Parts: sequence; structure tokens; C-alpha cells
Amino acid sequence: MNRRLCTLAAAAAMLGAVLLSACNDVKTELKTPVYKTSIKEDETRMSPFKSQFPDEYASYQKNNESEIMTVYKGSVPYHKNDNVNPLPAGYKYAQPYLKNLWLGYPFSFEYNEARGHTRAVEDFVNIDRINRYGADGKALMPTTCWNCKTPKMLTWHKEYGDKLWSMDANAFRGKDKIDAVDETINCANCHNPTNMELRLYSVPLKEWLQRSGQDWNKISRNEKRSLVCAQCHSEYYFTHKDNGPAAKPVFPWDDGKDPEDMYKYYMTHGAKDASGKSGPFVDFAHAVSKTPIIKMQHPDYEMFVDGPHGAAGVACADCHMQYQRVDGKKVSSHWMTAPLKDAEMRACRQCHADKTADFLRERVIYTQKKTFDQLLKAQEVSVRAHEAVRLAAEATDKAADYDALLKQAREMVRKGQLFWDYVSAENSVGFHNPAKSLETLMKSAEASQAAIDLACQAANYSIAPALVGDITKIVPPILNHSRKLMQSPEHLASHPWLKYLKPFPPAPQVWDGQNKLTSDAAK
Ligand code: HEC
Ligand code: HEC
Ligand code: HEC
Ligand code: HEC
Repeated sequence: MNRRLCTLAAAAAMLGAVLLSACNDVKTELKTPVYKTSIKEDETRMSPFKSQFPDEYASYQKNNESEIMTVYKGSVPYHKNDNVNPLPAGYKYAQPYLKNLWLGYPFSFEYNEARGHTRAVEDFVNIDRINRYGADGKALMPTTCWNCKTPKMLTWHKEYGDKLWSMDANAFRGKDKIDAVDETINCANCHNPTNMELRLYSVPLKEWLQRSGQDWNKISRNEKRSLVCAQCHSEYYFTHKDNGPAAKPVFPWDDGKDPEDMYKYYMTHGAKDASGKSGPFVDFAHAVSKTPIIKMQHPDYEMFVDGPHGAAGVACADCHMQYQRVDGKKVSSHWMTAPLKDAEMRACRQCHADKTADFLRERVIYTQKKTFDQLLKAQEVSVRAHEAVRLAAEATDKAADYDALLKQAREMVRKGQLFWDYVSAENSVGFHNPAKSLETLMKSAEASQAAIDLACQAANYSIAPALVGDITKIVPPILNHSRKLMQSPEHLASHPWLKYLKPFPPAPQVWDGQNKLTSDAAK
């Protein structure tokens, strides 16, 4: 961090010590304050912390706020992949093709804008990604999905060991298993309840530190103020059963944290072939282009870590947990939300004290607009690439090396979509790392365009005329789609891409949030 900023920061009000912690070149002995609580180490509920830490507890409850939206983000949990259900007033920035790009995967059923941590369990048990229909009440998704929703994972992992991961997610949905309010993401996810030191609960991050030779006890306070967030705000995948405990979450960081590194990593770590070698990892086969796709999940930490702030030693907590004074005491705000929700942009002005709130807000929106515009373009080329492969796969006019060309085309669709999703699923719309965001989108479009070229070549260019022009005419956006609609043959006949899906057998709803509907109703 530059000296001017440090000086400025130190001068900024009475926050000296606080801000120095953000200055990498300042060696500080400061540690997270240590307390002696009467709370048990394996506590997973939030309520026992209330009386001992009323200020942090009170600010944490503000995470319930879910009505304020900012230009691109905020806490209104609208359907991100659905222009049909009424979007919140003023909302302008939907990507229209999310359901198309994830067709054949539960993300195509429902995908919402994130809101605060206190809502995590509630939102989890109500989303249409986790099956609620028939199937003997099974989620058809592993328990791993709970990993970032509750510290109860600690208890459950102790009870079941690594068998836990591949157990059915719905086995833990009932009210007897988890309290949606008291056991949602809370203090125990980041703190040791006995003394409130920062600690990790998350298996994939703990294992990453071990794999990369790092010791939590030797990591600086400042890094910990980001790593506690990286427990969940990171890309992950579920271990294929050929490579270890089935469905165990792992961070794909062994080759690095950039999209190119992850793309390389995912070339292996999938199912093993006859010779015992791991093939490419796959989250799902796209219903239309039959491309083996990787779904990226919120690589917030990976995007941030070498951005302008990450590289300068600024931590997630500096912007998302700014210090406040409560009755003269210095407290970290535990309202972990969009800094733009604060008209005064106080989080930023702890350091950028020489700038106005308006200036800082406009700088954020400037980056977000440039990123979002390119995101839409990369998304469009991705859709066109799937369509090109679909047409080539059905073409009768075939080049001599048709099979090889089509295989390469699918590889480029996979790469283009991974790069697009790295930015799409990341939560800051470019702000955490403007240069990496734009580069990644450029590479996405490049790969998707290569896929189109290869598919055209495979079909001796017979398909080229069908790929020219307005994308909304070639492939209309799929705006309405859900698990319930998957039971409807009329719905599946309503769009050229939906025709590739096999209908789900008719089945009644079995789960409503945490309530299991009566077995009579379920029959
Ligand atoms: C320099 C300040 C800064 C740092 C450091 C920072 N963020 Fe952000 N973050 C922002 C801004 C600004 C936004 C955009 C908010 C908006 O558009 O309303 C944002 C957005 C987000 C969002 C989406 C918020 C929403 O409304 O849905 C998440 C989640 C997030 N950041 C997590 C993280 C994590 C995790 C880290 C560390 C790995 C981090 N941030 C580091 C400033 C920061
Ligand atoms: C997502 C992670 C996370 C969660 C959840 C969380 N904290 Fe924190 N907490 C932090 C971080 C990061 C700090 C700052 C530590 C530092 O500066 O070294 C902190 C600091 C604190 C401190 C030290 C004093 C202060 O305010 O800086 C206390 C006490 C505390 N938290 C209590 C709680 C309580 C009580 C809860 C639950 C209601 C909670 N925390 C939930 C991450 C978290
Ligand atoms: C245990 C997993 C977990 C940890 C640890 C965690 N988060 Fe989150 N975070 C989530 C989930 C899940 C959501 C979305 C919840 C929802 O939409 O119901 C979320 C949402 C958010 C949002 C969006 C809030 C809004 O109002 O839109 C921000 C910002 C955020 N987290 C920042 C952080 C920061 C900063 C840290 C570290 C101090 C952190 N998170 C640690 C899982 C986690
Ligand atoms: C803990 C201190 C700190 C906080 C908090 C902080 N910044 Fe920064 N900011 C920095 C540092 C350090 C740099 C890197 C530039 C440098 O080294 O002079 C930087 C750089 C920037 C830049 C230029 C980055 C670029 O792309 O070239 C912008 C814009 C910016 N910050 C906006 C914000 C906004 C908006 C917030 C609040 C959401 C914020 N900052 C919060 C310390 C901080």
C-alpha cells in the first residue's frame, strides 16, 4: 500500500490501528481480540452469543435486510435467470440466457441474487434446485450443498465422517435437523466460540492450506480477515467417487486461481478410465450441445486476491465489515453486505478519505457497467456456440475429420462457458478485479468463437447461414423453466432447445421448505 494512503488512513479520525492493519508493509503485532466466553467449542447456534457480544450480534441481524438494491447488486433476491417474474422496480440488468446455458442442470430451474447470511438456510430449503417432488422425498443432491449454509456441518461431519458428503441433502432439511434462524451461517463459521479467535470450519479451505503447506496459526491477522470469507466465497467442486470420498468439496487451486489455471485443473479430476487415469471433470452434460460443462460457483476470493485491493493487502472485512464506534467501543460491523448500500460509502472512505462518496460510487459503477456490457456479449457468443455444435451434430454434410472437429468444438464451448461463468458467478460485477474480469470475458468470447468456427468446419459450413444474425431470433432466451415444468410435455415442446429434455415423471410436491408434506399428499 502506498505511503500516502497509509498516512491518510492513519489520519482519518481515530481509526489508526484499524487502518494500519490494511497496510501490508506495516508489521503489526495486532491480533483479533481474544475473549473468554462461557460458550462451548462445539456450539453451532447463534443465540448463545447474543448476551456476550450484543454489538456484533445486533449488527449481524441487519443481514436480514433484503429490500435495498444497488445498481447491479444489493439484497433483493430476484430470479437472476428469469425476465418473466416481476423484477424489482428499477432493476435493469438480467442476463437473459442463464437458463439456456445451464440446460440439463438444476441451476436452470432457479438462480437468485444473494442476500444476507441470516437468510442462508431459509433460501436453501426453498430453492427449486434441491428436489422437492416425489423421489421418496430425496433431494437428488448431496449434503455437500449444506457446506456453506450452516456451522452444523461440524456436528454432522463428526457424526458421519466423509460418508456425510454423498448422503442425500434432504435428509437434513427437516425442522428436527436444523433451526433455520438460529443455525444459519453464524459466529461459529468464523470464530472459535470459546475465545472468538478467527478459525476455519470449512473442509475444502483447511485441506487447501494443508496441501499448499500453510499453517493457519502462522497466517497474518489481515489474511485471516479474508480467508474466513474464502471458506465459502470460492469456486469448488464435488470429488468424483473414483478420486476420493464421493461429493467431498475441494478447491481447484493446485495450478493457480485464474480461470486458465482452473480450466487446466479440470482437464483431470473426473472419472477414471480403464488405465486408471482421471479424465476431465464434468458437472453436467449440456442438454442441447452435449458439451461436458463445468459450472463455476462464486469465485469471489479468486477474483479479489490479485486485484487492486487484494494485491495491496486490503481484506474482504475492510470493505464488508467496516469498523464502527458503538458507545465509544470499536466494533467490526457484522452486516456483511454491499458497500454501495451505504449512501456515505463509509467502508471505502476509511482509506480513501480524500474522495467523496459520489466519486467512489461512480468509480464502482463505471467498472461494473464496462464489465456487465462485455458479460452480455460473452454470454451471447456462448449461446451461439452451443447452437453451432447442436447444428453440426445433426448435419448430414460432414468434413473428413468430422468427429475430431466436433470434439474440439465442444472443448471450446466448455472453455468459453467456464470463462464467462467465472465472471458471471463472481459477485462484484468486475469491481473486485477489473482487469481480470475483462480479460476473462475476452478469452471467453475467443474460445466460444473458436467453437463456432470448428463446428462450421465440421459440417463443411453447411450450418453457417443458420448461425448468422440476431441471437434472439436464432435461439430465443428460455425465461420460464422449473422442476414442476419439467413434468409438462407441453412446456418441453415450447422451445427448440427444451425438446432435448426428457420429461420428469408426474410427482407431487413432498417438501415445502422444512416441512415434509403428509405421505398421503405425497402419493
Ligand atoms: C475494496 C473493497 C472491497 C473488497 C476488499 C472486497 N469487496 Fe466485495 N464488493 C465490493 C463492492 C464495491 C461490491 C459491489 C456492491 C454493489 O454493486 O452493490 C462488492 C460486492 C460483493 C458481493 C456481492 C454483494 C451483493 O450485493 O450481492 C460479495 C458476496 C462480496 N463482494 C464478497 C467479497 C469477498 C468474499 C471479498 C474478499 C475475498 C470481498 N468482497 C472483497 C467491495 C469490496
Ligand atoms: C463470516 C465470518 C464471521 C461471522 C459469521 C462472524 N464474525 Fe465476528 N468477526 C469476523 C471478522 C473477520 C472479524 C475481525 C477480526 C479481526 O479484525 O482480526 C470479527 C470480529 C469479531 C469480534 C472482535 C471485535 C470486533 O468487533 O472486531 C467479535 C467479538 C465478534 N466478531 C463476534 C461475532 C459474533 C457474536 C458473531 C455471530 C453473531 C460473529 N462474530 C459472526 C468474522 C465473522
Ligand atoms: C459459511 C459460508 C459463508 C461464509 C464463511 C461467508 N459467506 Fe458470505 N454468503 C454466503 C452465502 C450462502 C450467501 C447467500 C445467502 C442467501 O442468499 O441466502 C452469502 C452472501 C454474502 C453477501 C451478500 C449479502 C447481501 O446483502 O446481498 C456478502 C456481501 C457476503 N456474503 C460477504 C461475505 C464476507 C465479507 C465474508 C467474510 C467476512 C463472508 N461473506 C463469509 C456464505 C458465506
Ligand atoms: C483498507 C483500505 C482501503 C479500503 C477500505 C478501500 N480501498 Fe480502494 N484502494 C486501497 C488501496 C491500497 C488501493 C491501491 C492503490 C494504491 O496502492 O495506491 C486502492 C485503490 C482503489 C481504486 C483504484 C483501483 C484501480 O482499479 O486502479 C479505486 C477505484 C478504489 N480503491 C475504490 C475503493 C472503493 C469504492 C472502496 C469501498 C468499496 C475502497 N476502495 C475501499 C485501499 C482501500
